[in-house]
Amino acid sequence: MDKIVSLCARRGFIFQSSDIYGGINGFWDYGPLGVELKNNLKALWWQRMVRERDDVVGIDSSIICHPRTWEASGHTQNFSDPMVDCRACKKRFRADQLDDAGKCDARQGSSEHDLTEPRNFNLMLQTQIGASEDASQVAHLRPETCQSIFTDFKRVREVARQKVPFGIAQIGKAFRNEITPRNFTFRSREFEQAEMEFFVHPSEREKWFSYWRDERRKFHLELGFSPDAIRMRAHESDELAHYANAAEDVEFLFPFDWQEIEGVHDRGDWDLSRHTEFSGKDLGYTDPESKESYTPMVIETSMGVDRTCLAILVNAYEEEALEGGDVRTVMHFAPSVAPIKAAVLPLSKKLGEPARELERALRRRFATSYDETGNIGRRYRRQDEVGTPFCVTYDFESEDDGCVTVRERDSMEQQRVPMADVESHLRARLES
Ligand code: GAP
Repeated sequence: MDKIVSLCARRGFIFQSSDIYGGINGFWDYGPLGVELKNNLKALWWQRMVRERDDVVGIDSSIICHPRTWEASGHTQNFSDPMVDCRACKKRFRADQLDDAGKCDARQGSSEHDLTEPRNFNLMLQTQIGASEDASQVAHLRPETCQSIFTDFKRVREVARQKVPFGIAQIGKAFRNEITPRNFTFRSREFEQAEMEFFVHPSEREKWFSYWRDERRKFHLELGFSPDAIRMRAHESDELAHYANAAEDVEFLFPFDWQEIEGVHDRGDWDLSRHTEFSGKDLGYTDPESKESYTPMVIETSMGVDRTCLAILVNAYEEEALEGGDVRTVMHFAPSVAPIKAAVLPLSKKLGEPARELERALRRRFATSYDETGNIGRRYRRQDEVGTPFCVTYDFESEDDGCVTVRERDSMEQQRVPMADVESHLRARLES
């Protein structure tokens, strides 16, 4: 992990938020390469989950919802972790993660913390709406993106002219006041989720749960994870969230253990029933053909965007031993998520003008970069380290034969390609 964290900071993928002030625990900034990686992941998710389907539509809802939303969803009452404080060093820990508490700095003679009894700590981050300090203006930053999907269910179904079964998807920020943020971005206080709620007839919930579990597994394999680094794990009954009837996690083998990057949940009719009860608005459904009225059951797929980005970074990282004892650091990103698809490198600065022209033409189609500093070997290494699948080198022969050299990142194989064909050549290889 240390190597990944260091590479991420050094090459501008992800680094501490507010770094110049010493950082702020649980908050992270994505730099120029990180934002491309994250946007590519979100775009691929949106493509597969919304654009390629007739039965899923998207929304983008506000982060702050009516306070009653969280009473109805159960978060006000149930969304808490047991917390203990050390009276000596004043640090706070999750009562169920005391193995990680370490030694108490304030009790020299003893390594033991002086812990309080566990208390429940609500994980929702609070804020104030408007100028008044009145308690009625207290609101919360959403701890999950899906609740607006439930409160918008009726309107979205009607405007999109959808019939059950169908789904609503959204990508957005979520906030949790985690007691112990840790493992880089893995457990943050601000993060993004890509969630889809699929509304089904009660008789079809098992069928759709299996369907979405398999679909989501396929998606993660498409991201380039090796099958032995991904597994599905069903929740035991005592692990289930307050709303879930069944749940299966997509887990990735991080350097610190197998951990969840996505959850597939059977939420039953919990959310629609509760919002019906708390709002007084009927969120039931009447089948237009059979005229049967019922509250749909919900199958949810909830991917953590930041956790999946972290898994992609971990999965891609390799220190490859080369002949002659040299080592190159290479990120084996799948082309679909690679931040830069192709880098254009003039062999000499003297060739800068035509090489720049080529890069300007390619950038209309792909995320590209241009680099003319340092020897060509060093420039290849720089691109390997950020996972650029192809380097296109413009050399002195290019002037005469109209060709450039295309070098592939993983095999390092080089191929001479006519300049006029470079775009289609790259597109075919990036999509294969
Ligand atoms: N709507 C259901 C829901 O929110 P969850 O299992 O609590 O379910 C879904 O969260 C996903 O969100 C997780 O699989 C994880 O990837 C991501 N996630 C949850 N808490 C997180 C945190 N503190 N930091 C980063 N990602 C988090």
